[in-house]
Amino acid sequence: MRHLLDTRTLTRDGALRILDVAEDMADTQRREVKKLPTLRGKTVVNLFFEDSTRTRISFEAAAKRLSADVINFSAKGSSVSKGESLQDTAQTLQAMGADAVVIRHGASGAPRTLATSGWITAGVVNAGDGTHEHPTQALLDAFTIRKRFFGADSRGRDLAGLRVTIVGDVLHSRVARSNVWLLTTLGAIVTLVAPPTLVPQDVSAWPVHIRYDLDEAIADEPDALMMLRIQAERMNAAYFPTEREYSRRWGLDAARLARLSTDSIVMHPGPMNRGLEISADAADSPRSTVLEQVTNGVSVRMAALYLLLAGERTRAGEDGR
Ligand code: CP
Repeated sequence: MRHLLDTRTLTRDGALRILDVAEDMADTQRREVKKLPTLRGKTVVNLFFEDSTRTRISFEAAAKRLSADVINFSAKGSSVSKGESLQDTAQTLQAMGADAVVIRHGASGAPRTLATSGWITAGVVNAGDGTHEHPTQALLDAFTIRKRFFGADSRGRDLAGLRVTIVGDVLHSRVARSNVWLLTTLGAIVTLVAPPTLVPQDVSAWPVHIRYDLDEAIADEPDALMMLRIQAERMNAAYFPTEREYSRRWGLDAARLARLSTDSIVMHPGPMNRGLEISADAADSPRSTVLEQVTNGVSVRMAALYLLLAGERTRAGEDGR
């Protein structure tokens, strides 16, 4: 795999390859093998132009568990504030020996620009770009769903027949987009539920069902209910119902939680707005996979870095060329 830029261009085999390698990585963690020597001598740069807790720290943990050296770059406090461009920033980091660049950026398409511009030779991993994609989040979500429904060793299995309902601020969500492409490639049936003002205009071209009523969607008995964060920082007031109306109509509260079928799970990529899109009852319930998702994120990111820096170069789809 040369880069990991999106899930839209990942093939079923490419996605399963990443999930299966992540299973291998999770096995080593279960066996308390704290560090693998696989990426000794490689340098991974975390290049973050937007804030992050989970993604940045889990890429750092993943790289270190594979024995890579890690350089953390945050735009805050850097020469970006003096006007330094993405090209010059990336080339500066490559001059310090970067073999892989993990980039989060507010502009949709920034990771692809970095990967295709010829500015750097390092492999590029998209850690979230604007409202476009967040591929490793979707991969860790798929990994979590597969593990919950098909058990500890679910290597080789896709998600055929599982029903996943994604609820909330779809318009601004790179997590929703990456999940739609990946989960449907893996055979899941995906339904989106959102206020009409938070549904993207091009959604009719997406391979999903659309609903506007969360109670009707819950009555359909989804296997996984994925609540999205309301992205206040990207919100135009015109889009958003009031917070009170939003939590009443589209929030997952104790009453809705109680109506989910016995085996269904509740997911959230984090960070959560407790009391808005998800109540504490739901976030902390035994159905919640929120912390499992975080744990699984390290294994999935170990797999992505391994395939980028040590694995085969052609197995994971268009970006695996
Ligand atoms: N889910 C996610 O991307 O979280 P962070 O913004 O904390 O990385």
